[in-house]
Amino acid sequence: KKRLTISAMAKMKAEGMPISVLTAYDYPAAKLAEEAEVDVILVGDSLGNVVLGYDTTIPVTLEDMIHHARAVARGAQHTFIVTDMPFMTYGVTIEHTLTNAARIMQQAQVQAVKLEGGAEITAHVKALVDAGIPVMGHIGLTPQAVHQLSGYKVQGKLEKDAKKLLDDALALQEAGAFAIVLELVTEQLASYISERLEIPTIGIGAGRGCDGQVLVYHDILQYASPHVSKRFVKSYADVGTTIRDAISQYVQDVKSRQFPAEEHAFQGEAGTLDSLYG
Ligand code: KIV
Ligand code: NA
Repeated sequence: KKRLTISAMAKMKAEGMPISVLTAYDYPAAKLAEEAEVDVILVGDSLGNVVLGYDTTIPVTLEDMIHHARAVARGAQHTFIVTDMPFMTYGVTIEHTLTNAARIMQQAQVQAVKLEGGAEITAHVKALVDAGIPVMGHIGLTPQAVHQLSGYKVQGKLEKDAKKLLDDALALQEAGAFAIVLELVTEQLASYISERLEIPTIGIGAGRGCDGQVLVYHDILQYASPHVSKRFVKSYADVGTTIRDAISQYVQDVKSRQFPAEEHAFQGEAGTLDSLYG
């Protein structure tokens, strides 16, 4: 299987072929996502919520992202991988942004980075693209700004907010982003932005009009996720229940001495221990 490219993604948009994106944070998830032929894997900083147990993505570090992105890259060697730049590792000075993105690209060997924000970060996006690093944008509900946004809520409902999101999307495209995530925005606005842009939009909680969709691994699998009950999530399996039941059976087997059985044990020569200790 050949890894997708950013020009192939542009072509998919032009031809009306939806782009499937799923997050992954480790080797087995990446391996299974690749085997299932997902178009793009996102090593999201949702790592903080679904894997590390934090309330927000704010505590996630560059080292955390690199550590997990390296595992994903080992598991999915033929899939286009995007890695989130975490809170405050970009957008401060251009040099700081470039240094941190370079660490992700070199140490994790992924194909692109993703940054949250609109017009205020376009200088950083342009600098990355000029340096040869593909950038995915991310606007709407940007979880790293959860406190500034006063919670996780739908964005772009008011006309002035919708106008700002469209301007942000156009500014990111102008700066060279190859795609933009639209998170928790109204379906009308996401569709409008998708029509106005040449680059693909990837929606999450953004309705039916986007050029692609992204969801979180633990959400679609009901894998002990903190947000499976969200309206925008569709779950396709209940691995949480499967795993809990399996662990519970294992515990019962140990307690009842059903495990290990004879076939799990190793035998040696009879009598040797008596001669050693007898
Ligand atoms: O971190 C993440 O998983 C994301 C997607 C939900 C877009 O940024
Ligand atoms: Na993210």
